[in-house]
Amino acid sequence: MFEILEKERIGPGVNRAVISAPEIAAAHRPGQFIILRTHKDGERIPLTVADKDTEKGTITLVWQEVGATTYYMSTMCIGEKFQDICGPLGKPTHIENFGTVVGVGGGIGVAPLYPITKGLHDAGNHMVSIIGARTEGLLIMTEDIRKVSDELIISTDDGSFGVHGFVTQVLQGLIDKGTKIDLVVAIGPVPMMKAVCNVTRKASLPTVVSLNPIMVDGTGMCGACRVEVAGKTLFGCVDGPEFDGLQVDFDLLMKRLAMYKGPELIALNNFRETPRGCQCTFPGGA
Ligand SMILES: Cc1cc2nc3c(=O)[nH]c(=O)nc-3n(C[C@H](O)[C@H](O)[C@H](O)COP(=O)(O)OP(=O)(O)OC[C@H]3O[C@@H](n4cnc5c(N)ncnc54)[C@H](O)[C@@H]3O)c2cc1C
Ligand code: FES
Repeated sequence: MFEILEKERIGPGVNRAVISAPEIAAAHRPGQFIILRTHKDGERIPLTVADKDTEKGTITLVWQEVGATTYYMSTMCIGEKFQDICGPLGKPTHIENFGTVVGVGGGIGVAPLYPITKGLHDAGNHMVSIIGARTEGLLIMTEDIRKVSDELIISTDDGSFGVHGFVTQVLQGLIDKGTKIDLVVAIGPVPMMKAVCNVTRKASLPTVVSLNPIMVDGTGMCGACRVEVAGKTLFGCVDGPEFDGLQVDFDLLMKRLAMYKGPELIALNNFRETPRGCQCTFPGGA
C-alpha cells in the first residue's frame, strides 16, 4: 500500500505521482483530500486527490515544491512507499446540475480544480474553465481540464500564452458580456481567491472556494485549520475545505498561513544541507 507506481515532473517544481491506495480510491469523492507522511519522522501535510482509478486502486497527487516535505516527496522514486496516507478527508464538493459553472484555477490550484470540474461536468453542468499562471511554462494540467470543460480560457500574467492578464479579468469579461453564470468555483493562491470573490461579490454570483489552511490532524481535533467564515470560526478539515467565498475572511487566513514561516525556512534549509539518497527529480535533477 501507498507505493509510488508512476511519477513525473509536470512543470517547474510541480510533480504528479500515481500511488497505490485502493481503499482511499474507492471512498474518495471530488473535493476531498488526504494527509500523508513521507517517512516515520515526517510531518503531516494535506494534499488534494487530483484523480483516482477505482479499478486499479490508485490515487493521483499533484504537488508544488514549497518547503521541506514537498521537496522530500520530489526525491521519492517509483517503488518507494509513503509511511502513511490518511483519507479521504473533508466534505465532498456539493455536486448537482446548477446550469453554467465557471471554474477558476490559478497555479497549483488547477490540480484540486480538476476532480471538481470533472464531477460537475459529469452532472450535466456547462463547464467554463478559466485557468491561469504567471507565465506559459507554469501552466499545468491544461489538457486534463480541457477534456472535462465545455469551454476553456487560458490566461497568463505576462501574455506568453492565451489571454494577457489575470484570471479575474477573464471572469470580469464574461460577466460584462452578460454570460449567464450560476456558480463560480475558484481554487488557487489565497490572494487570487480573494480577488475572484471581489469580482463575484459585485455581480452577486454564488462562489465556492477551496481553502488551504495549515492542517495537522485533519479530523477537527487540533484546531490548526481554523478559518473565519461569515463571522463564525470553522475548521477547514471537517467543515471544508470548500466554503462560501463571499463570506471568508481571507486576510486572517493569509496571516495564519504565514505563522510558521521561520521554522518552515529552517526545516527547508536543513533538508537542503542534508538531501536524501535517490533524488529522481530533486530541483536541478531530471
Ligand atoms: C485541503 C488542502 C489541500 C491541498 N492540496 C494541495 C495540492 O493538491 N497540491 C499542493 O501542491 N498543495 C496542496 N495544499 C498545500 C500543501 O499542503 C502545502 O503546500 C504543504 O503542506 C507544504 O508543506 P512543506 O513542508 O513542503 O512546506 P512548508 O515549508 O511547511 O510550508 C510552506 C507553506 O505551505 C503551507 N503549509 C505548510 N504546512 C501546511 C499544512 N500542514 N497544511 C496546509 N498548508 C501548509 C503554508 O502556507 C506554508 O507557509 C493543500 C492544502 C490543504 C489544506
Ligand atoms: S486540522 Fe486539526 S482541526 Fe482541522
